[in-house]
Amino acid sequence: MVISGVDVNKLADKFGTPLFVYDENAIIDKMLCYKNNFKSDLFETRVLYASKAFSCVEMIKLVKNCGLSLDVVSGGELYVAKKAGFDMSEVYFHGNNKSTDELNFALKENVGTIIVDNFCELEELKKLAEQQNKQIKVLFRLNIGVDAHTHKYISTTLFESKFGFMPNSEEFEKCLALCMGDKNVVFDGFHCHIGSQVFEINAYKLAVEKMVAVLKQFEKPLTLNIGGGFGVKYTDDDKPVETSLLCKTIIGFAESELEKQKVKIKKLLIEPGRSIVAEEGVTVYTVGYTKDIPTKSFYFVDGGMTDNIRPALYQAKYTCLISGKENLPKTKKVTVAGKCCESGDILIEDIMLPEATKGDRLVVLSTGAYGYSMSSNYNKASVPAVVFVKDGKAREVVKRQSYDDLICCDRDGEYVEIR
Ligand code: LLP
Repeated sequence: MVISGVDVNKLADKFGTPLFVYDENAIIDKMLCYKNNFKSDLFETRVLYASKAFSCVEMIKLVKNCGLSLDVVSGGELYVAKKAGFDMSEVYFHGNNKSTDELNFALKENVGTIIVDNFCELEELKKLAEQQNKQIKVLFRLNIGVDAHTHKYISTTLFESKFGFMPNSEEFEKCLALCMGDKNVVFDGFHCHIGSQVFEINAYKLAVEKMVAVLKQFEKPLTLNIGGGFGVKYTDDDKPVETSLLCKTIIGFAESELEKQKVKIKKLLIEPGRSIVAEEGVTVYTVGYTKDIPTKSFYFVDGGMTDNIRPALYQAKYTCLISGKENLPKTKKVTVAGKCCESGDILIEDIMLPEATKGDRLVVLSTGAYGYSMSSNYNKASVPAVVFVKDGKAREVVKRQSYDDLICCDRDGEYVEIR
């Protein structure tokens, strides 16, 4: 297997496995495709990269260089943005329970916009902004009850969701009242996010309709952020809408709905994460032992749920290949299992592959989103290295954790009196 002119087997030899490999040009092309197609003559537009999908300093530098804005959901993600030299006025800070420290950090760094989840948060933000004598824009996260028919754990807008509040609810009115005439927190509009790995583009039409209906009660043109969640291809069963068509369709939904309801907006935002990085990344493993039991055959790989929790957590489906054996007949039905001490540590169940032997490189495709970013040290596994490849060359952007890294926060603290 070759990615951007680089042989995956040679990469594995050089950087070790498991290894996250991203095609840098493919990420850039995807971001530019979003930016160039998500445009309207009627209002400003912005594409925000949802950095939870995959964040490291070099990734955020790519986002900066492509001219996208940024969605962060924690002080940690904000810190990565700062280290990447990201323009803080183009950062949007999400989250339902931002701590006082995180809000203070955002204010100190002059983050452009906070997406406020609830009234308590808004009260806290107002107090802190007054103390720091800062002005900050806020969007309110709304729960508009659109169910995008995705996995229940990643659909966020069912009415019992923990995120946001309902339009015209008591919380809604209280939030608006608190911002009224305030010089520190400046109400700028609304946000919604209807789920993740969404293929039904009409779900966004419904979201736009509901959001525009909310905007109708305001005279001033506001910002409307309709979130991310655009589906990607993990296996042949997934049929995502092509990015330029997706962008144009959503712009079309917004333009016609605004016209229909006679509403003007200042800016329309989307915030894709997965669809910018998922298909642009793969994970390279080394096959260790293989095993046949009466009902199944296993290929064991040197990673697993510690670098890809999605199969265990969401029953997510992936496909894979054996690098260098792409053209051999797929004669064996196997289950690709990780090395964790956990029965659920299965990456792919029942896939047809060629015969593999110890030392072969097994490549799981479309792992660029929520793989590295959700990785863990369970069983004291090291988080793998991440490399970017481009035009026949490779560069390491995250180094593999060493055993020393695994204990670098361990302390032999002495007991101190707590009063
Ligand atoms: N905006 C908001 C407010 C979000 O909550 C999310 C994802 C996104 C944007 C980006 O969604 P995307 O385009 O990446 O689908 N760990 C799960 C996904 C959780 C998504 C959480 N929010 C997974 O691995 O499928």
